[in-house]
Amino acid sequence: MNKIQSVTGMNDIFGDEVSYWQKLERVSREIFHSYGFHEIRTPILEETALFARGIGEETQVVQKEMYNFKDKGGDLVTMRPEGTAGVVRAYIQHALQAQEEVTKLYYMGPMFRYERPQKGRLRQFHQIGVEVLGTDSPYADADIVIVMDRIAKEVGIKEFKLEVNSLGTMDERQKFLARLVSYFETYQEDLDEDSQRRLQTNPLRIFDSKNEKTKEICQEAPDILEFLGEDSLKEFDVFKKALEVANVSYQVNSRIVRGLDYYEKTAFEFSSDKLGAQSAFCGGGRYNRLVESLGGKPTPGVGFGMGCERVVLLMQEFAQEKSQKLEGVFFVVLGDQALVKARELIQSVRDANVKADMLYESKSMKAQMRKANKGHYQYAVILGENELEKGIVVLKDLSQGEQKEVSFNELVKFVKK
Ligand code: HAM
Repeated sequence: MNKIQSVTGMNDIFGDEVSYWQKLERVSREIFHSYGFHEIRTPILEETALFARGIGEETQVVQKEMYNFKDKGGDLVTMRPEGTAGVVRAYIQHALQAQEEVTKLYYMGPMFRYERPQKGRLRQFHQIGVEVLGTDSPYADADIVIVMDRIAKEVGIKEFKLEVNSLGTMDERQKFLARLVSYFETYQEDLDEDSQRRLQTNPLRIFDSKNEKTKEICQEAPDILEFLGEDSLKEFDVFKKALEVANVSYQVNSRIVRGLDYYEKTAFEFSSDKLGAQSAFCGGGRYNRLVESLGGKPTPGVGFGMGCERVVLLMQEFAQEKSQKLEGVFFVVLGDQALVKARELIQSVRDANVKADMLYESKSMKAQMRKANKGHYQYAVILGENELEKGIVVLKDLSQGEQKEVSFNELVKFVKK
């Protein structure tokens, strides 16, 4: 029979890699806690209309990448391609604005986009994200960027790039867009095919083109920062100063436009050239119209989404050859009678919350010692017929090789230390 494989672009996460995921999740939770964020868990399936309205009909994600299907009741549903729309839906549905003036939420979980898989780009990928709802303060924008900066540093990413931009208010953005479109129209013939189409649907995305000729045309294109009014410029300044106060290095890049429609004012991206083509490991920005467009009261918001697969790739890249910490005890058991006693002893050790393991049947001493070393245990607890008679075990320190005898009664006390 041929073996069934996982679906293209959907990975199993197992073995050594898991420890990086656990560290990323633990560090993120700790840092979110320090900044006053609370967790929210929203469903993976949402009504398709949520994303069409939330992310934008014309975006690449909605047009091409969503996992949409009709469920058995005939409803059109989508496996979430990102976290923001669902969080905002929940915020409105549960009237969270009534509970707190400013709501700070974080989430972790799988997202789904039907993209062409490559390094750092999957069809099921994971995001850790935050959303701050109920304030238009640029300090909130700064806070979430600082949070991401601290997570990246704390998980060991020693080098990365942060680019920030302001897209202006919707009005400023509209004026800029009008100018941009007329600029690109003068070069229409020279743009690549995709960009010609984007000129009609989403001209900002032309900046993402990899085509050399188009890239050249982009260089001279109008600059969003020149379209910002006084207030927007001031806010952008407050945001940048707040980053400096927190020792966050950044570069301003006025071509950071982001792929989803809901952004205005602040936009930012964290990236690393160690990731290859898919270099962005976190992106976010401000979305002051989204709550309203999903049926809530006008409420400003700002947030980011971090791509966990890409962060884990970087963690692995920067990890030094780490010597694994030795922990717990492995029972090396010789003979059937000893096995019965060992089962009893291991239970009390495990109940004392000390890591402990043994085999289910008796094997050679050598094979069991090999297991103990491979599993990075601190001690081997040796129990054979002799020890059984004397009511003791031999405890062997696996880092130094020293041995000592410990009575059955004292074992838990000893290993707990
Ligand atoms: P996004 O830029 O679409 O933003 O995604 C955020 C991050 O998710 C990206 O920077 C990337 O690291 C990761 N990512 C996206 N697609 C894939 C993929 N196919 N495979 C692996 N990683 C991927 C958002 O999703 C917004 N919801 C962020 C946000 C939150 N803005 C405001 N609040």
